Amino acid sequence: MRTLRLLLPLTSFAILAQGCVHDPLTPVYDPTVVFIDPPCSPDTVYFQQDILPILKSTCARPDCHDVASAEEDVILVSYSHLMGDDEDLVVPGNPYESELVEVMLASSDYDVMPPPPNAQLDQTVIDMVILWIEQGALNLSCDGCDTTDVTYVSHIAPLLAARCNTCHGGAEPQADLDLGTLAAVTGAISYQDLMACVNSEAGFEPMPPPSGLDACNVRKLEIWIENGMPE
Ligand code: HEC
Repeated sequence: MRTLRLLLPLTSFAILAQGCVHDPLTPVYDPTVVFIDPPCSPDTVYFQQDILPILKSTCARPDCHDVASAEEDVILVSYSHLMGDDEDLVVPGNPYESELVEVMLASSDYDVMPPPPNAQLDQTVIDMVILWIEQGALNLSCDGCDTTDVTYVSHIAPLLAARCNTCHGGAEPQADLDLGTLAAVTGAISYQDLMACVNSEAGFEPMPPPSGLDACNVRKLEIWIENGMPE
């Protein structure tokens, strides 16, 4: 398991004075997720792949449990909403004390979720929610992104070449930021700003424009920097 964001910030890099401050956007990468490298275990329930999509499609609909409606003060759009707002909703380790499971299993039309005329959830889906809570209700993700042995030569140079160097390379790099060679990259990176930009975080200009990198490449870059930017 990796606890990426908790190991940060790294401070050993030269600071670029200029920022890339801009309008807020939605980060592609949720720092509370614990990413697991493949192969994924068939015995583990991965919240991000196995549970969240079901909650979003069956519960977090408009007029139900999305942010705007928040029926009964329950919002089911993210792990932090699920775990943060009401401690009885999910009790890690105790599925049968968790309201989330209680309402899925309820036999009366009045209590059951989703409410009629919607169909009750499939038993296999409910069993997976139960198993997820039994396994500790963790925020795991196994999305096939392999972050083992990320080096400059194997991953980072090709990534920068494809996504950054047309602007941040050559004789006159934009924003005076050269990402064309390993020496230039290690010498120039302000770690915080770079990660915030590629992750399109609020207050930063997404890099590459207009929407930043995908979650897997954000993680590869982060792990590479965290490991000391190996060649
Ligand atoms: C289409 C051109 C373009 C591409 C592609 C691009 N950038 Fe940028 N980048 C810019 C411009 C222009 C700025 C200055 C923006 C500003 O400050 O408003 C900038 C600013 C930055 C900054 C802030 C540095 C500073 O001094 O302001 C970082 C960090 C950065 N880019 C990283 C990247 C990375 C990493 C990639 C690839 C994943 C990338 N950029 C791809 C054009 C680009």
